[in-house]
Amino acid sequence: MLAHVQEWVELLVRWFHVIVGAAWIGTSFYFNWLNNNVRPPEEAEEGVGGEVWAVHGGGFYRVVKYKEAPPSLPGTLHWFKWEAYLTWVSGVSLLFLVYYFGADGMLIDPDKSSLSKAAVIGIGLGSLVGGWLTYDLLCKSPLRHRSALLTAICFTGITAVAYGLVQVMGSRAAYIHVGAMIGTCMAANVFFVIIPGQRAMVDAMAEGEQPDASRGRDGALRSLHNNYFTLPVLFIMVSSHYPMTYGHRLNWALLAGISLAGACTRHWFNLRGQGHRNRWLLPVAAVLMVGLAFVSKPKTYASPAGGNLDFYQEVYPILQKRCVTCHAAQPTFPGYLAPPGGVILETPEQIKSHAAKIMQNAVNTPYMPPGNLTKITEEERSTLGQWVQAGAKIPKAMKHAE
Ligand code: HEC
Repeated sequence: MLAHVQEWVELLVRWFHVIVGAAWIGTSFYFNWLNNNVRPPEEAEEGVGGEVWAVHGGGFYRVVKYKEAPPSLPGTLHWFKWEAYLTWVSGVSLLFLVYYFGADGMLIDPDKSSLSKAAVIGIGLGSLVGGWLTYDLLCKSPLRHRSALLTAICFTGITAVAYGLVQVMGSRAAYIHVGAMIGTCMAANVFFVIIPGQRAMVDAMAEGEQPDASRGRDGALRSLHNNYFTLPVLFIMVSSHYPMTYGHRLNWALLAGISLAGACTRHWFNLRGQGHRNRWLLPVAAVLMVGLAFVSKPKTYASPAGGNLDFYQEVYPILQKRCVTCHAAQPTFPGYLAPPGGVILETPEQIKSHAAKIMQNAVNTPYMPPGNLTKITEEERSTLGQWVQAGAKIPKAMKHAE
C-alpha cells in the first residue's frame, strides 16, 4: 500500500515538475527570442531600444524594449520567477522520492563503490551546492569579461563532475545529478542574481534615482547562461529512456558530446535571431551526434556457440533467476506491485517477444537489473547476448513439452 501511495505522489510531483519546467523554459526561450528579434522602431521613441511585432492566437502584439529603464513604471509589472523556483523545488523533491528513498535500486551501485547510502547521497547533494558556489564565484571573477574562456571552464567543470559522479553512483543517477546541478545553477541565477538585480533597479526608480545598469548586465549574463544550459538539461531529464548513453563505459564523455551538440544548436538559433547565418554549427552538431551514435554502438556477441545455445538449459534459467522476481504478472520482489514497464518475462514466448529490449537493457547496457539487485554476472549477460544475436530461437519440440 505504501509503495502504491508513493507511486502516486511521485506521479503528481513529476507531472508538476514537467508543467512548471515547461513554463520556465517557455518564458526563457520567449524572452531570449525577443532579445534576438527586437529591431530599432520605425518611429524613434524616447528611451526605446527596439520593438517587435507578432501575431499569435488571433491577436496582434507589439512589444517594446527599453534601452535601459523606462521613464516611469506602470502600476503592474510582471515578474517571471515562480516557474524557476517551483521547477527547482519539485525537481529536488523528485530526486529524494526516486533516488534517495529508492536508493537501493536507483542510486547505489555496489559494483562501483562500497560507500554507504548516506555518503553517496551526501556526494549527490554536495555536487548541487558545490556546483553552484563554484559557478557563482567564476561569474563574479574577472572571467565574466571573457565569455569564451568562462564557457570553456564551465563546460570542463561540468564534465569533470560527471566523470566523478559515475565513479561513485549508478550511472543513471549520476546523469540526473549533473542535470540537477546545472538546474540548480539556473534556478539560483534567477533567485540570487537576476531577480535581486531587477528588484534593485525597480527600487532605485521608485526613489527617482538612476538605476545601476551593471545589475542589469549581470542579470543578462546569467540569463544567457541559462539559455545555453537548457538544452543539455532537457536531454539529461529524458536520458533515463536511453540506457545506451548513461549505461555506456564512456557515459561521461557521451554526455559532454551531447551537451556540446545541444549548445551548438542553441548558438545557431541565437545567431540566426541576431541576423547572422552561420554555416558550420548545425553540420558540426549533426556530425557530432552521428559520431556519438557510432562510438556507443554495442559490441557483437556473435559466436559459433550462439546458434547452439540450449534455451532451456542455458538462457531460460538466467531470466528466471535474475529478472522474474520483478518481471512477473505478480512480482515477488519487495515493493513491486505490478510488472515494471509492463514487461513480463515468465514464459518462453514472453521472453522471445522482448528479445530486442532484453538485449538493449541487460546486455548492451547494464540498465537491468536496476543497481544489479539480483547480481547477474557478465557471463550471463554475454549468454543472453549470444542467444538474441543468434535469432532468439526457442526449440520447437520443447515448446510443445512446456
Ligand atoms: C528489482 C526489480 C527488477 C529486476 C530484477 C529486473 N528489472 Fe527490468 N525493470 C525494472 C523496472 C523498475 C523497470 C522500469 C524502468 C523504467 O521505467 O525506466 C524495468 C524495465 C525493464 C524493461 C523495459 C525497458 C523499456 O525500455 O521499456 C526491460 C526490457 C527489462 N526491465 C528487462 C529486464 C531483464 C532482462 C532483467 C533481468 C536480467 C530485469 N529487467 C530485471 C525492475 C527490474
